[in-house]
Amino acid sequence: MTVTVRVPAKVNVQLAVGPARPDGFHDLANVFLAVGLYDEVTATPADALRITCTGPDADKVPLDRTNLAARAAELLAARYGRSPDVHLHIAKDIPVAGGMAGGSADGAAALVACDALWGTGASREELLEICAELGSDVPFSLVGGAALGTGRGERLTPLEVGGTFHWVFAAADGGLSTPAVYAEFDRLTPHAGPPEADPVLLAALRTGDPFALAGALSNDLQPAAVSLRPSLKDTLAAGTKAGALAALVSGSGPTTAFLAEGAEAARGIAEALMASGTCRSARTATSPAPGATIVSGSATSF
Ligand code: C5P
Repeated sequence: MTVTVRVPAKVNVQLAVGPARPDGFHDLANVFLAVGLYDEVTATPADALRITCTGPDADKVPLDRTNLAARAAELLAARYGRSPDVHLHIAKDIPVAGGMAGGSADGAAALVACDALWGTGASREELLEICAELGSDVPFSLVGGAALGTGRGERLTPLEVGGTFHWVFAAADGGLSTPAVYAEFDRLTPHAGPPEADPVLLAALRTGDPFALAGALSNDLQPAAVSLRPSLKDTLAAGTKAGALAALVSGSGPTTAFLAEGAEAARGIAEALMASGTCRSARTATSPAPGATIVSGSATSF
């Protein structure tokens, strides 16, 4: 038997960051929105835990136990007293180390795939617990849609989304390290206040109005990402010049996100970004998107 799980990328439409906590993490008001760029993780029985990966960025994906897909299999296996012998193949389409939760997505997808393959039948609460252990963004990859993440981002409250949003995502050359971006945030923002969700932004999501959302997008990590990668300023300017309603860094970057009025505008912005020479590639995607979903092997979605 083989189980394949499809899992979306995310963009943070608001990322409010508080001061560093004693455990090194930061309290967040993190408004996640899942976008329709997907990785697929396929789990097949094997003699030992093995990870393989294909896709344009496959050479940048670690194939050892540091891969969140491997750690997901290990955590689930340990909890159910079995060995984590499984072949996990990642068909990677989400930018690597790009601020779109690609690694987290693979962790959530591997967890759902192994649970189905092994018949462990973990509850949704158990799966969410394991996700939170894997990383701050992993629970959201499991649930998808839109959600407010508090704590370090792992405590989720689902949010209503009243329409389809059209985006362009521009991938940069090379990734950015999330801890390095948070450290730069600490340096630039020594007196960060408590993070709070913006009611105007939540209302914009609810109504599905791209103009209202454009006016409310915010990312406290953006100055830190731009400080570490100044060329992002040129990418943001190129998308704005091409007619994006708003431009921002996605999460800890370096992927940049551009909100468009509709599908046609998004295509035009993607073409202009490609022609601008300020990014490696640009592609369109819509949101919201469903969370980790079994696409072959059985038919459960979370
Ligand atoms: O939770 P995750 O493993 O994805 O976090 C990676 C790193 O990002 C952490 O080690 C920490 O440096 C930083 N981080 C943070 N505050 C958060 C989430 C992540 O400082 N809320």
